[in-house]
Amino acid sequence: MPVKKRSGVIHKVAMNSFGAMIIARTVSKLQKHVTEALNKKMQIGFVPTMGALHQGHIALIERCVKENDFSVCSLFVNPTQFNNPDDLKNYPRTEEADLMMLEKAKCNLVFIPTVEEMYPANKLLELDFGEPERMMEGKFRPGHYQGVCQVVHRLLKIVQPDNLYLGQKDYQQCMVISRLVELVGIKDKIHINICPTLRETDGLAMSSRNMRLSNAERKKAVLIFQSLSYIKENLVAGETDTIKNKAIAMLSDEGFRVDYIEIADAKTLEPVSIWDGKKKLVTLAAAFLNEVRLIDNLLLN
Ligand code: PAJ
Repeated sequence: MPVKKRSGVIHKVAMNSFGAMIIARTVSKLQKHVTEALNKKMQIGFVPTMGALHQGHIALIERCVKENDFSVCSLFVNPTQFNNPDDLKNYPRTEEADLMMLEKAKCNLVFIPTVEEMYPANKLLELDFGEPERMMEGKFRPGHYQGVCQVVHRLLKIVQPDNLYLGQKDYQQCMVISRLVELVGIKDKIHINICPTLRETDGLAMSSRNMRLSNAERKKAVLIFQSLSYIKENLVAGETDTIKNKAIAMLSDEGFRVDYIEIADAKTLEPVSIWDGKKKLVTLAAAFLNEVRLIDNLLLN
């Protein structure tokens, strides 16, 4: 789908701080620059992240930079979306390296708020996102998507982007955020762009959490992609449980703790146990390798 343009003109952006890139640590500084961009009728693109950037994130930024006049990236490890305190504590934080990567990718503004800046003591949003909030990631990480939506809602309000860039790597998150945008009535203002999952050469989906894997775990981690690929290569019309259980065994036999592998309707995420051979499907997985929880997914047809 073509990207909306506020104006055909690409404006030069006033830059400072980190070389050519603006660093905003407060909402008021961010808003000052957003207002300037809006006054110049610039089209704004936005990539929300939790930092610890890798090439998957940078692919989103590069697309954002290409398609917009003013590109904003946020780096914020959002505490409200972590249901496990150790996961929050151990989440990698690499601000200096992140800034260098963003500058190289020609990002215009990086927003790095504190928790207090993001969550002043006001009422939090509570919305029902339907089934996608209760299954798979929603089921195994209770409250996770409420937390994701708290932060994304607040970020969208202050960044006011025309284009939002999300990765297919977090398939269910894309669905929940699309629903959020509908529920809060900004669907017509924001175009959501879903970008393909970037992978390492062996197929492992790039993820900030991969940094926490030991060498031996890193070698094993590719089995998640291989188990999903096994489903993709062997799925035939009819019952899907046998192939799903084989994929689960591929992981558990190698010491993974599998939260789920699911074969689901690509539009609604409802599990599909009998496939008619036509419906668009996605297969999704989440599994722990010791302390590190990894997720991945593949479109099947
Ligand atoms: P984070 O995990 O940092 O991911 C930020 C964005 O990068 C997400 O849209 C994610 O899907 C995308 N991404 C991650 N790995 C990718 C890969 N290998 N290829 C392509 N895109 C990839 O997702 C979050 O942060 C948070 O939940 C957030 C939306 C920022 C809210 O806190």
